[in-house]
Amino acid sequence: MTDLVSHTHIPNRDYHCVEKQLEPCGIVIFGASGDLTHRKLGPALLNIYRQGLLAEGSFVVGCGRTEMSDEQFRSSLGGSLKGEAGTGDGPMVDMFLRRCHYVAGSYDDPAFYTRMSSRLGELESKYTTGGRRVFYLSIPPSLFPVVADNLGAARLTAENHANGQWVRVVVEKPFGHDLESSLELDRQLYRVLDEKQIYRIDHYLGKETVQNLLVFRFANAIFEPVWNRNFIDHVQITVAEDVGVGHRAGYYEQSGQLRDMFQNHIMQMLSLVAMEPPSSFDADRVRDEKVKLLRSIRPLPLDGPGGAILRGQYGAGISRGEKVPGYTQEPDVDPHSSVETYVAAKLWLDNWRWNGVPFYIRSGKRLPRRTSEVAITFKQVPHSMFSGALAGQMEPNVLVINIQPEEGVSLTFQAKQPGPRVQMVPLTLDFHYRDVYSKGLPEAYERLLMDCVAGDQTLFIRNDEVAVAWGLLTPVLERWAEQRPEDRPFSYPAGSWGPQEAERMLAADGRRWRLLEGEGVAR
Ligand code: BG6
Repeated sequence: MTDLVSHTHIPNRDYHCVEKQLEPCGIVIFGASGDLTHRKLGPALLNIYRQGLLAEGSFVVGCGRTEMSDEQFRSSLGGSLKGEAGTGDGPMVDMFLRRCHYVAGSYDDPAFYTRMSSRLGELESKYTTGGRRVFYLSIPPSLFPVVADNLGAARLTAENHANGQWVRVVVEKPFGHDLESSLELDRQLYRVLDEKQIYRIDHYLGKETVQNLLVFRFANAIFEPVWNRNFIDHVQITVAEDVGVGHRAGYYEQSGQLRDMFQNHIMQMLSLVAMEPPSSFDADRVRDEKVKLLRSIRPLPLDGPGGAILRGQYGAGISRGEKVPGYTQEPDVDPHSSVETYVAAKLWLDNWRWNGVPFYIRSGKRLPRRTSEVAITFKQVPHSMFSGALAGQMEPNVLVINIQPEEGVSLTFQAKQPGPRVQMVPLTLDFHYRDVYSKGLPEAYERLLMDCVAGDQTLFIRNDEVAVAWGLLTPVLERWAEQRPEDRPFSYPAGSWGPQEAERMLAADGRRWRLLEGEGVAR
């Protein structure tokens, strides 16, 4: 297909639009020596500091079991920030690192929290943050309640709104591993925290293109009238990764693709694509609509021909030109594991807007490329004046929202092929963020950290959203846990687009998965 459109040039602009000035605060990271801190949180904090968006007077405290001085922590974090800093940015990194401190201890030891409390006391008077704190729990989920309880017992979670003092706790996924455990986690957190203090993070919601779903739908008058069953034939959501399980088998063997990607990232994207327009861009108004949408998803039938959800597991294959092992040959994976690395599902939303419109969702590891997109296929024209072969040439319009890595939006449409005969050709209107924002897009964690400091929960997940998503998927997980032979994951070669059975799921409806760039090559 041809790229038809040239872009109106929009000058580079500052993409951060912080509606209110962030207040100075202390950001305390539990799990400071972990991967997330070094790869994502540290660079995100540095970037917002560099842009002057982190209030002067804010500070960072890393916590972990490893004994380290402030200086050692700075040099270890600094090592990860060097790549981020860019040339000539060294002094800025140093200024940022000077605000970073470290407290070591064991998460279940009350003495650690006493030390933390006195350290925070000192730092808060030095930096004058007024006791405003973010505690970021980048730790294994089994420790969430342990840390929360201890923070509460040391009175570190107490707020004093009259003095403008607040305490917020960011919780990384997974929020439980099924419905019951997620409700139990809530009960544990509520022992010391209020829902308004809990920031359940899903980094997909911080991605620019995911946020853009809201602006695209609700700030443009032309899409809303066609965003329904009258005009849309079906919707496909794809989240593909080329990586395998890597060194995360310990976690992934307990999780699998349904918990790792579906319950959170995909459900969130689906809710933004399909929800009703909220009355305002207020956290609870937006989240009310998301919950309503999630509640409208019809329970997935587990039996009968052409089930609505299937799973796959990658076998050995070729990924990015290299031979790679199958999932069960990966280090630390049970050789008989039936954990899924791929899921495809057909969802129905039982509401007026979407009645009769299937949502096909697929997500997997070791697929040929990393790509995420939402593709909306419109209905065929109701009557074609073009007859015979020409009518057969007509493809429906498809609107594609590319979430990553080629962030953008495209719309295919039919045009006449220039020439003496009437022949049709599908063309695309293409918008790429990179053509307009050459600086690149901010990392998801930047936006989310700033929102947390600003007290804006819109892009964080509320307790009821978690519960509804688990409520839908728990019966599937329970059924798969029975290890019935007919539920074993279908195998697909690493580097392919998933099991053939996923193709059949759509073929049974007379449809096919949208061909992604390069798709078909690996099969
Ligand atoms: C994480 C999952 O939440 O998201 C990982 O645990 C996955 O398994 C990752 O690889 C994908 O995130 P992104 O931003 O690379 O699409």
